[in-house]
Amino acid sequence: MITTIVANWKMNMGYSDMIQLTTSLSIINPESVSLIVAPSSCYLHYCATHLPHARICAQAISEYEHGAYTGDISAEMVQSCGARYALIGHSERRALFGETAAAIEKKLMHCRHHQLTPILCVGETMADRESNQTHHVISEQLSPMLTYPGDYLIAYEPVWAIGTGQTATPAMANEVHAWIHDMVGDHVPVLYGGSVTPDTAPPLLCASDINGVLVGSASLSIPSITAIINAAKSIEVTS
Ligand code: PGA
Repeated sequence: MITTIVANWKMNMGYSDMIQLTTSLSIINPESVSLIVAPSSCYLHYCATHLPHARICAQAISEYEHGAYTGDISAEMVQSCGARYALIGHSERRALFGETAAAIEKKLMHCRHHQLTPILCVGETMADRESNQTHHVISEQLSPMLTYPGDYLIAYEPVWAIGTGQTATPAMANEVHAWIHDMVGDHVPVLYGGSVTPDTAPPLLCASDINGVLVGSASLSIPSITAIINAAKSIEVTS
């Protein structure tokens, strides 16, 4: 399976900084590595037209199809601006914006109707891990995918590792990835996310069930994201 790197820019950068980052990224050829960039919605079209080697992902979509939902952004809108993927169920959306399991199911339906490939984010909190609930929590989060009719990716992002500088060890992450693969099948790419850096990416990418990484803060730095892409390329060549 080809290695996938998702650069999740989150809510960062004004327009001119975004243009600078996009311009630098546009000359990096990831070759056989699949590079997916998730800019904020107002930059989707710019990124879709200026990043020839990347595919574009929405960070979030509305649970509604269209209509009087001021400020919301629909699957149809992001798709028509060039997005081909959508992050669904990111832990920041679940925790800070109250994204429920019911809303996630509706968003998956919109992805299907508007030709967006969902990247479903799953992961346990530290309290879940300490009370041995990791598999239980993740199996509930995965359940809508078990009957999903199209292609999708999973991003395993332990909540305690996102933006904290604490990364799961490759062995810890691989154990959960292997278990997710048992649930969804080996053909589904399962990416790891949570404080991935140029130092932590290589051993994670070498693990047997880790098919790529979802990178947040390190994706805002060209030297860091380049190092992570290069690590993925060299691991593909040697494996
Ligand atoms: P991080 O974010 O790499 O800054 O921890 C990962 C994510 O997108 O959740």
